[in-house]
Amino acid sequence: MGGEQPIPVDLRAWAPGDLALLERLLGDPSMMTHLGGPETPEKIRERHARYCRSSASGADAQFAIVAGSAHAAAGWIGYWEREWQGQTVLEAGWSVLPELQGRGIATRAARLLADRARSNGRYRALHAFPAVDNPASNAVCRKAGFRCLGEVDFEYPRGHFLRCNDWSLELTDQNR
Ligand SMILES: CC(C)(COP(=O)(O)OP(=O)(O)OC[C@H]1O[C@@H](n2cnc3c(N)ncnc32)[C@H](O)[C@@H]1OP(=O)(O)O)[C@@H](O)C(=O)NCCC(=O)NCCS
Repeated sequence: MGGEQPIPVDLRAWAPGDLALLERLLGDPSMMTHLGGPETPEKIRERHARYCRSSASGADAQFAIVAGSAHAAAGWIGYWEREWQGQTVLEAGWSVLPELQGRGIATRAARLLADRARSNGRYRALHAFPAVDNPASNAVCRKAGFRCLGEVDFEYPRGHFLRCNDWSLELTDQNR
């Protein structure tokens, strides 16, 4: 069978030069339909500064998704600590530039993110909370090996409630 070769995907630490990428991802209303609408330029700058300070070995790890042989910036992916149902877990989020969507980039990036979260070694599970009416993000969870635990009401951003699916991926080997 023919078919296109999958695009090589990798993650690299979020860097000072990535502000324009974040502006495209979070400032575009069409990208933020399921996330409470576009963020203001000020909010995006604050978020960018926090992402630059994050670290893969800590409780907040943010990456640029790079794709293709030239390692061009294709999106953002990251995880951060969250208290969830009495446990400290990691929550994941992701976003891919519109012109690069539908090519498996987010799914491969989510698998790489799970590897990083596993190497971090401090957490039992990585969760993701896509809105129930965000088919692409729910598909990313399913294809990256997360298990759907059911629907929950989730506050994001503050004061804005969304009906979401709670997807979870175990980070520890349950058989050991
Ligand atoms: C969610 C998002 C990151 C997915 O990125 P992507 O690189 O296009 O994802 P993939 O190519 O890995 O696609 C994953 C699956 O979603 C499916 N999908 C994509 N758009 C879809 C849609 N509108 N309806 C149904 N399925 C869809 C794809 O077909 C693919 O499944 P398949 O391989 O079985 O066909 C991207 O749509 C995005 O940035 N959205 C805006 C931000 C956002 O909502 N982030 C998630 C917050 S929880």
